[in-house]
Amino acid sequence: MSVHGVRSLNVVVGITGGIAAYKAVSVVRALVLGGHDVHVVATENALRFVGRPTLEAISRNTVHSDLYEGVAEVRHVAIGQAADLIVVAPATANTVAKLAAGLADDLLGNTILASTAPLVIAPAMHTEMWQNAATVANIATLRQRGVTVVGPAVGQLTGADSGPGRMSEPEEIVEVALRTAAGRQDLAGRRILVTAGGTREPLDPVRFIGNRSSGKQGVALAVAAADRGAEVTLIAANLEVDVPSTVRVVRVRSTLDLERAATSAAQTADIVIMAAAVADYRPETVADAKIKKDVQGDVLDLRLVKNPDILAGLAANRRPGQLIVGFAAETEPDDAKLRQLGAAKVARKGADLLVVNRVGWNEGFATEGNTVIVLNQTGDIVGEASGSKRSVADRILDLLPHSI
Ligand code: C5P
Repeated sequence: MSVHGVRSLNVVVGITGGIAAYKAVSVVRALVLGGHDVHVVATENALRFVGRPTLEAISRNTVHSDLYEGVAEVRHVAIGQAADLIVVAPATANTVAKLAAGLADDLLGNTILASTAPLVIAPAMHTEMWQNAATVANIATLRQRGVTVVGPAVGQLTGADSGPGRMSEPEEIVEVALRTAAGRQDLAGRRILVTAGGTREPLDPVRFIGNRSSGKQGVALAVAAADRGAEVTLIAANLEVDVPSTVRVVRVRSTLDLERAATSAAQTADIVIMAAAVADYRPETVADAKIKKDVQGDVLDLRLVKNPDILAGLAANRRPGQLIVGFAAETEPDDAKLRQLGAAKVARKGADLLVVNRVGWNEGFATEGNTVIVLNQTGDIVGEASGSKRSVADRILDLLPHSI
């Protein structure tokens, strides 16, 4: 069966015992609505968090959890053998460890070991568990074996705490999973330079002028491009997020550092994506020692000088055929005016595409989601995207090959 020309897949959704199991229901639903045949394999602990009837109603299939059920039909291997794709969401620290060790003490473990289908896992756990050396090593082992790891996202956890460990949003998991199943490597052979984060302009050895960019959208672009086969260099300015080892990272702090690194890396890049929030001005002088208030008195005058516009510089000196993508973060509330600002900016900077998003106190920066429009050189809208930063990243990348 196929829906909208997309091949219908036999998808096993493995659900393990974490609170994020309730969000697995949305993963199952999205896959079913996408026309796929979904078989849930839940651990006993997962069924403490989400009920079997819910999963059966949503998946439209029997939910399997018991290793000793269906022995005559060798169910412990049959489910895995029939699968085109296995998605484990959430994957607890315990499950991640079991997968890394190749354990098969429950139906899900057997199913995964018996399968040659692509495996996508969406870890969900407390930050301490995610950052524990055992989990870090287990995740590295799984990645090395070709397992696709989605997230985890940074955000509110079960209790009052927040940090990395929150399961990625269902739409993102489904998107990555389907892309993995399709083996989409449409950027294979492309060299992509991405800048991400926010520059910091030093005032003295301990202070800087900075901005609120977390780097999440730029990192999502770099990771998505790497997942799609590109050779990615990420110039990272003061990131608040981790970067997987599929991406080569060059760390920078100030705009002038970023300019040097970007100018050098752009010499071999086919595509340059300037997602970093770059300071327009920097202090004219940087004090050698900490600026003292007892010396300065009640008022401190700072003189700022303009930074080079790196994007405009790269666009003006581009290699033949190189595609240059800029970003514009604007606080303008009106949609039409936002677009006008973007159209003027793309022309002024000489970029091929400009990704325009709205930012504000609670919008754009450091959030999990994003809403963007993408303009071409003449200011026409060539694409729009809204959703997780990963899905926005994939949508932006979808627009690239057609624009070169
Ligand atoms: O002019 P504005 O700062 O809005 O432009 C944003 C775009 O230009 C982003 O792609 C940003 O990375 C880039 N930029 C730059 N150098 C600057 C300021 C912004 O490359 N000095």
